[in-house]
Amino acid sequence: MKQKMDNLTPARVVSELDKYIISQSAAKRAVAIALRNRWRRMQVEGDLKQEIIPNNIIMIGPTGVGKTEIARRIARLIDAPFVKVEASKFTEVGYVGRDVESMVRELMGYAVNQARARLVEQEQEAAHKIAIEKVLDYLLPLRKNREELSAEDEERMARSREKMRKKLLSGDLDDKEIEFEQSESENMPFEALPGMSMEILDFNISEMLSNIMPFRPGKRQKSTVANALKIFTEREIDKLVTREKVAEVAKKSVEENGIIFIDEMDKIANAEKHGGIDVSRSGVQRDLLPIVEGSNVPTKYGMIDTSHILFISAGAFSMAKPSDLIPELQGRFPIRVELNSLTEEDFVRILSEPENALTKQYKELFKAEGVSLVFTKGAIAEIARYAASANEKMEDIGARRLHTIMNTLLEDYLFEMPDPKINKVRICKRFVNERLERVIESEDLSRFIL
Ligand SMILES: Nc1ncnc2c1ncn2[C@@H]1O[C@H](COP(=O)(O)OP(=O)(O)OP(=O)(O)O)[C@@H](O)[C@H]1O
Ligand SMILES: [Mg+2]
Repeated sequence: MKQKMDNLTPARVVSELDKYIISQSAAKRAVAIALRNRWRRMQVEGDLKQEIIPNNIIMIGPTGVGKTEIARRIARLIDAPFVKVEASKFTEVGYVGRDVESMVRELMGYAVNQARARLVEQEQEAAHKIAIEKVLDYLLPLRKNREELSAEDEERMARSREKMRKKLLSGDLDDKEIEFEQSESENMPFEALPGMSMEILDFNISEMLSNIMPFRPGKRQKSTVANALKIFTEREIDKLVTREKVAEVAKKSVEENGIIFIDEMDKIANAEKHGGIDVSRSGVQRDLLPIVEGSNVPTKYGMIDTSHILFISAGAFSMAKPSDLIPELQGRFPIRVELNSLTEEDFVRILSEPENALTKQYKELFKAEGVSLVFTKGAIAEIARYAASANEKMEDIGARRLHTIMNTLLEDYLFEMPDPKINKVRICKRFVNERLERVIESEDLSRFIL
């Protein structure tokens, strides 16, 4: 689904989002424009380019109406570094917890992986070519010194090398065993520590250790040709795709295309302006300010300039309002879009239209048991009606209500399958009524079940 930004006009972005998210056109448009404006900025030449700052966005809307979903979908749509963080998880610098700068480090980590994957793909062929020559060297070791070879010898060797190459490429030699030198990194015992991720550490242990620990050359390893080819290719890739190169590409991509989605933004706004926890909340806001404004954040790959990272924040803002954010921060999010709460009609569409619609998901789950599941139009309308009414009677949890309702509706089947007697299930309006009426009518029951 990844697409080049060149083709992602605002209209295209909106139509891609339309495949998954019903309604909410204001939010979709704002996001699409902000994305395109960054691409447009990249096309600008001269000093003005530096002056054009991103249109940071606040998405405001009740729970379960698609805020996070919009962010998740653009992340998949565009080929840009993207992270989603929760504002409520941060604490002010000096307090125990994650500091806000970690979002930039996380974004950089994402970009590094992305850049490495891309570079590896680019270098794969070149590395494979070199690896083949290396394996051939092992398969046809020189018996004498190069200088002692006659022209005749040389020619003969070149011929057998060609023959061997053909065999190697055809896979005939895959299972043959060869012995070769282990490389430095494969000699490193620490890299094999189970369950230990080097990425979580802010410095590179294995690099550090390899500096301390002497490399013992001459340690040999036996393996099949096929495996050796893999190992040599990896080694060449490591040489071609250096940490520096990866970091350079990643840094550029973060600084020019990075997107940080800050969820639960309302949780750091002060609804009531006194004491206690609020001190730390506005502290988080103040810490956030320089990052959103544009500053240099140190990461293990070097300084990252955040001036052109796009920030999209979201929150229900039911207790606190965007105006409860500190004024400086409000100014950094000039674009406000509201997402509307979802209606019965929206639910009908959400149930059937998106590519990942719940009815489609359940169809697949049933299919796994060899059962075909169909919903009549009447049934879908009825489910939507119950969802809307449950949201009205109790709390409005948006489209999430559909998940609980569908589960209640289908629970018996989900439990009973597989059953030779069940091979076709048709959900009609009457079935929905029978199953849900009792639950909906009793407020106590629905509080627990739906
Ligand atoms: N407009 C919509 N169209 C289709 N599906 C939707 C829509 N809104 C929400 N959903 C579905 O409902 C679920 C919850 O949505 P989402 O995570 O986007 O909520 P949210 O707005 O971020 O809520 P919260 O404020 O609680 O974080 C997801 O499974 C999503 O696919
Ligand atoms: Mg959310």
